[in-house]
Amino acid sequence: MQHLDIVRNKIVLELGAGCGLPSVLLRDVLGASSVVATDFWKENIDWTISDESRLIPDHWHGMNLKYNVEDICKIAQVEMLDWHDLDSLKSIQSKYFIDVVIGSDLIYYESDVEPLWQTLEILLEDVEEVILFSPLAHNLRKALPSFRTLLKEKADEERYKVKEEIFQLHGSDEDCIIKMSITKSY
Ligand SMILES: C[S@@+](CC[C@H](N)C(=O)[O-])C[C@H]1O[C@@H](n2cnc3c(N)ncnc32)[C@H](O)[C@@H]1O
Repeated sequence: MQHLDIVRNKIVLELGAGCGLPSVLLRDVLGASSVVATDFWKENIDWTISDESRLIPDHWHGMNLKYNVEDICKIAQVEMLDWHDLDSLKSIQSKYFIDVVIGSDLIYYESDVEPLWQTLEILLEDVEEVILFSPLAHNLRKALPSFRTLLKEKADEERYKVKEEIFQLHGSDEDCIIKMSITKSY
């Protein structure tokens, strides 16, 4: 938790918020002044087709996230943001003055590595820091090596500073949390 002290009194955007647990923690425990939970889902879809690739069926994903995260005081809000379709990102950036971006357990598929980086690069134009966490056994996150290589390349180009910390969970390299922090180099 102490690693997230940086979010206190900050406007924080969460990428790939899922059911919203990290955003709820930001809102209720970690003292963020405002939270914008983002994820992607389809709207106006055929309710008779079930999408078993997602834990929450697509037609309920956004609704579930809003139910869990949004609050009456409007400290926490939900916005649709798909890393593969960044049209909505500009309007989110003009609506909220984001200080910090966080993301937890986002990197599964190779096809997401470049779009996720493009999303981060646009957000990094304005924000202080991006903090990503990859929990659980990192050998199960197939695209994680490519993403970490990409981050190293970006750090080598000296446009960004990347700091990686690895926290072992049960004394094993396989079972750990990787924290990746990205800031702009000035
Ligand atoms: C394993 S879940 C992690 C959920 C949450 N961050 C957590 O730690 O509890 C990965 C999340 O990334 C989201 N995601 C995957 N691809 C995405 C994309 N192209 N744009 C936005 N979100 C995406 C998924 O919808 C899912 O909610």
